[in-house]
Amino acid sequence: MDAFRIRGGAPLVGEVRVRGAKNSVLKLMAVALLAEGRTTITNVPDIMDVDTMGQLIGRLGATVAFDRAAGRLDIDVPAELEQRADYDLVRQMRASISVLGPLIARLGVADIALPGGDAIGSRGLDMHLAGLELMGAKVTSQHGYVLASAPERLRGANIWLDFPSVGATETLLMAAVTADGTTVVDNAAREPEIVDICRMLVAMGAGIDGIGTSTLIVTGVPELSPTTHHVVPDRIVAGTWAVGAAITQGDVWIRDAVSSHLDIALGKLTAAGAEVSTESDGFRVRMGDRPASVDIVTLPYPGFATDLQPQFIALNAVAGGVSMVTENLFESRFKFVNELVRLGADVRIEGHHALVTGRERLSGAPVVATDIRAGASLVLAGLVAEGETIVSEVHHIDRGYDSFIPDLQRLGADIERIPTPADGGSPLG
Ligand code: UD1
Repeated sequence: MDAFRIRGGAPLVGEVRVRGAKNSVLKLMAVALLAEGRTTITNVPDIMDVDTMGQLIGRLGATVAFDRAAGRLDIDVPAELEQRADYDLVRQMRASISVLGPLIARLGVADIALPGGDAIGSRGLDMHLAGLELMGAKVTSQHGYVLASAPERLRGANIWLDFPSVGATETLLMAAVTADGTTVVDNAAREPEIVDICRMLVAMGAGIDGIGTSTLIVTGVPELSPTTHHVVPDRIVAGTWAVGAAITQGDVWIRDAVSSHLDIALGKLTAAGAEVSTESDGFRVRMGDRPASVDIVTLPYPGFATDLQPQFIALNAVAGGVSMVTENLFESRFKFVNELVRLGADVRIEGHHALVTGRERLSGAPVVATDIRAGASLVLAGLVAEGETIVSEVHHIDRGYDSFIPDLQRLGADIERIPTPADGGSPLG
């Protein structure tokens, strides 16, 4: 397994391009299963999760060709699909659950291992399953698998989500597009990735009203046809670069990104002292001084993204002042803070609040990435820590960051990929 070795101190300066969103493309690959024939997805990031999802839909019967350099996926979907998503793949990636909707829609049955994925909370499936039951499916669970079946065609229903869950909204959308009648999903998630999925479904012939709002009205159609779709830019990767510019007191143009998907995060960076300017194809973040602390409260979109919370804790760890970061989505999302503390950060956790007292400087040390965004946060902290930081378990980062090390190097960071040292620490001693 690999690690990253970072020598802190250099500001990030230059230009970086962002590819399509991980949290969209994985679901779009599942959406492709809804139509027999060839679907093409472009602006696809070269990340590990895309390979894992490719294997999963491959086992379900699809043929997947990934042109990494071009960022293009061709997915050929046969008339017959397999119904079972096995544990060995599902455990690697929670997004595997997104095949549940398409399988039950196409086959009337789906047999899916209960997912694993990031270690950031319990991440239940109750809303996915309750919604499917309202649409006429029968759901049982045993031996770590969920079996959903609807021998008759699924029928439209009125569904009110307790919480605007991204995953549940997606499952219900994918199940509803070919159901009999109209489905209304209220208190639906409104993330740009949900809008992206809706757009692809509409291009395939689905009837969806209220796209981008919290009430989605889906009019079932008998079948969908394949399409070609360009993935929405990854706002979390773009936001990570933005924090990278701010924390290193650098100057970065983030291209092929949509600044309006990051309104609150960029507002926070402005409050921290950064200069943010936007153009049609992206935005620039410049920071001339030590950042000022900013309070953060994570919420479903358009609130502050939980997937940017760890990066902002890193920023606050070196900022002037004291800040409160409140996490409302995932109960275990502060687990990585212990690693940040190893770099000298002063963070106290009280339930779902983190009290961060900014330090003048952090100090390099060996640390372990515990999930994708925690890993990104540790890299950002390493960029400003004195001396050498080794981040191990970087397979988590590889799940979601395309071309991370080459891009960081181009922006001036002193970082390289190395084999994990045997003691998890510095191979230089
Ligand atoms: C997706 C994203 C993740 C992001 C999150 C933000 C992907 C692959 N992942 O995760 O990066 O941080 O949205 O919301 O797109 N919950 C239940 N029951 C359910 C469904 C969810 O209790 O049936 C809870 C979860 O345990 C969690 C919260 O709701 O505490 C948010 O979950 P959800 O919005 O569904 O996130 P994911 O789709 O898992």
